[in-house]
Amino acid sequence: MTEINRTQSGIAWQKIVVAEHAQSDSVREEMASDDFWRPVAHKFVPPKKGDSGPDDTIQKLVEFITKGETVLDVGAGGGRIAIPLAEYSSHVTAVEPSEAMREQLVGTAEAWGVRNLSVIASTWEDAEVEPHDLVVCAHVVYTVTAIEGFIRKLSQSARKSVALISFGRPATATYLPLWSRVHGEERVELPTLPQIESLLSEMGIEYKETLLEEWISRPFKTREDALTECQARLFVSAESEKSKLLNDVLGESLLEVEGGFRLKWTEPHRPRIISWDV
Ligand SMILES: C[S@@+](CC[C@H](N)C(=O)[O-])C[C@H]1O[C@@H](n2cnc3c(N)ncnc32)[C@H](O)[C@@H]1O
Repeated sequence: MTEINRTQSGIAWQKIVVAEHAQSDSVREEMASDDFWRPVAHKFVPPKKGDSGPDDTIQKLVEFITKGETVLDVGAGGGRIAIPLAEYSSHVTAVEPSEAMREQLVGTAEAWGVRNLSVIASTWEDAEVEPHDLVVCAHVVYTVTAIEGFIRKLSQSARKSVALISFGRPATATYLPLWSRVHGEERVELPTLPQIESLLSEMGIEYKETLLEEWISRPFKTREDALTECQARLFVSAESEKSKLLNDVLGESLLEVEGGFRLKWTEPHRPRIISWDV
């Protein structure tokens, strides 16, 4: 494997991500869409306009900017953070490679009447962007292979600060028990908070951490939604034998909760903002 990172933490990070991607490739069946995010993109929009949301992420991020400043949201998804932040800044630029995510983002920004937001359809690695005052990057780095270059570019694109948001464990941890039942092997767990901390330290970045309120992901609206989303997360095609097995496993793993269904082992997340000044 060619090393594209230099620090020990960066090289260890790369090994885990490469192993995780190889494992995905080894089980991947023919999918209905080649956009991984399509079945779940609707979950990454902000809550209704005026609602503060399930946690205090926006309130805490607002403390990093003043009204005349600009924000760059890297891997903005459906605009969960970019859209509410537009109200508190002069302009938000959202970088987002997934078409399904961009459709959610643009549709929601229009519905909210947000005009000071632009979208760049690109990965961060390929994006050409002017520096912005605050650079936000929430729940993106876990799957990035060339992590050091990715982080350096975040710093170089910030005039004031970078705010990286991470869970203690990867968001995909919820699906790990399903993986072993359906694919018959342990899923490689992606790097997350501890690895981010050691990587930043080795890169000589002095960061501080702001703990956010506990947060639980939105439930699947129906059993069918649960199956569709889990098929996508496990790279299982709708018609396959493994899909039947997944359906059986879900039968004993879903709990009915307010607003839909949840995997019974789902635990709340405790995200944090890892921020540094440039
Ligand atoms: C878990 S979602 C998080 C979305 C949003 N930041 C949020 O917190 O709601 C991860 C997003 O990162 C995007 N992404 C993944 N790899 C990326 C990359 N290399 N450059 C930019 N965005 C990326 C995905 O397309 C997806 O929209």
